[in-house]
Amino acid sequence: MHIHKFEQFWIKLSFVLIAFFVATVVYGFVAMDLKVIGDHATIDPQNLADTKFGNPGVREVTRNGQTEYEVYVQTIQFAFNPGTAQPIEVPVDTRVTFYITSPDVLHGFDVAGTNLNTMAIPGQVAKFTTIFPEVREYGIVCNEYCGPAHHVMEGKIKVVPKSEFDKSNLVE
Ligand code: CUA
Repeated sequence: MHIHKFEQFWIKLSFVLIAFFVATVVYGFVAMDLKVIGDHATIDPQNLADTKFGNPGVREVTRNGQTEYEVYVQTIQFAFNPGTAQPIEVPVDTRVTFYITSPDVLHGFDVAGTNLNTMAIPGQVAKFTTIFPEVREYGIVCNEYCGPAHHVMEGKIKVVPKSEFDKSNLVE
């Protein structure tokens, strides 16, 4: 069968593109340690009040003898709770695990200037762990269209020196 050489060129190019796209996905998951939100952590979005999301905020936990923090965040039209009305305050150089879910619609939770970025899906709990290496503030932006005020949905994370971390703001 005769295939015109231009035809051959485009056929080959399409295979190269497919290989390139697959490689970018593999690179993202392997080299950049991306994760998809697992379906193992499901939650009833109508009943968050009975969970730790019902009392969202920063909690102190001890894991392997180390003091760490857990942050439960609800993303709601059109705010992060906590994050918008008051910043999420965490200490520097400390492991912090975020748990994020949404009671209403799909939102995003993107810590600007970092690779911390997840969807907040009703019925699912997104989780990531990080250590903030420097004292500074970070903006949180919603990067999934969630309604008419999507563009103003933003929050703040305040990373403070360990000596200035105010434990009176912790939730039980
Ligand atoms: Cu929340 Cu866009």
